[in-house]
Amino acid sequence: MDVGIDKIGFYVPKDYIDIVELAKARDIDPDKFTIGIGQDKQAVPQPYQDAVTLAASSADSILSADDKKDIGLLIVGTESSVDESKSTAAFLVDLLDLPEDIRSFEIKQACFGATAGLQSAYDFVSLNPGKKALVIASDIARYGIKTPGEVTQGAGSVAMLISESPRVLKLEHKSVYMTRNVGDFWRPTFSKVAFARGKFSNEVYVDFFTTLWDRYQAKYDVTADDFSTMLFHIPYTKMGTKALRTLEGKVSDEKYAELMANYQDSVKFSREVGNLYTGSLYLGLLSYLVNAAKANENLLLFSYGSGAVGEIYSGEIQPGFEKVIDKTSLETMLEQRQKISISDYEKMYEVEYHDGTIVDPAGVDAKFYLSEIKENERIYKKNN
Ligand code: COA
Repeated sequence: MDVGIDKIGFYVPKDYIDIVELAKARDIDPDKFTIGIGQDKQAVPQPYQDAVTLAASSADSILSADDKKDIGLLIVGTESSVDESKSTAAFLVDLLDLPEDIRSFEIKQACFGATAGLQSAYDFVSLNPGKKALVIASDIARYGIKTPGEVTQGAGSVAMLISESPRVLKLEHKSVYMTRNVGDFWRPTFSKVAFARGKFSNEVYVDFFTTLWDRYQAKYDVTADDFSTMLFHIPYTKMGTKALRTLEGKVSDEKYAELMANYQDSVKFSREVGNLYTGSLYLGLLSYLVNAAKANENLLLFSYGSGAVGEIYSGEIQPGFEKVIDKTSLETMLEQRQKISISDYEKMYEVEYHDGTIVDPAGVDAKFYLSEIKENERIYKKNN
């Protein structure tokens, strides 16, 4: 039975900051941010948006009533969860009008969470023919104002519906993975912002890629010539470039040029949005699907989550995939955002809701939002 991604959707908050303006406000040469880091814009969430509302928004953009009836598994990958006990997934059952007979939970392993969810979904659908699984990557990436990581922030979510006879990407049952206890990035429960050894994290990431790629080639007797495109976890777009560059001189010049050109198409959306943490790889997939993909292409996907877990797996783009992806809506959503000033972004960054907060719906510009915090419980609403 073929299993894989049948639908894929994306949501990004409506505000963004311009990376050149951020560089100037921090007294940094803009080329460092646009060329050295590889970003153009950074999504800024509203205080009434969080991992729950972002997840609801991307899932809502792809689910039909029939899909909802067939879903038996709901997994949310996130490292910006709002509750240490209740999962982001449990909140979504109401917001998305999902039936009760669903197994739902949240997965955390830094930016690897959604891939863990995707592979679990693959197993679930393979064992339960006719059933579907909804996997959502939802995060707000925060390093703090005026930190070196500030330029690599962002927010948004990617939702994927996993089913048999998938119309977008057939997942091949081929994968290699590894875990090492590494201190490259962490966020203790008391902290709203992440701590990172950024340069060390780059080194570990590249090492995971080269190690797993060697193992993948040996295990499945393949080379780079078997793939037209490699997709990477891209918290910022320079990071994947560093991994891809390790292939220079090891593959033919033509293959290297093809991989590099396709990589540029896969990072177009990320340049506009910034870091989605666990959704980053899947935003790269969506960007590639919208901007360049061709039917029957073989893709190699590299997932990485600090701490650290990595996995390389592969998939095949399905004929007719373009009919399932709402390219116009995605591009319109990106284009119709509004730029806010760096000082407005800084003010919004500091807003914190506490027990007793009631959000005025008149000021909400999103379908799903945090409406209230009552007895420390977060209560969500949707606008129809
Ligand atoms: N023009 C063009 N490029 C420039 C430049 C300029 N004026 N000034 C610097 N650069 C380049 C540097 O050469 C470097 O490129 P390289 O990485 O290819 O060597 C890049 O810009 C970044 O410069 P650097 O001095 O290393 O920046 P930094 O000390 O501010 O750190 C990060 C950058 C990415 C390490 C930092 O933003 C960070 O820690 N981010 C968090 C990343 C993370 O934790 N990821 C983990 C999740 S997987």
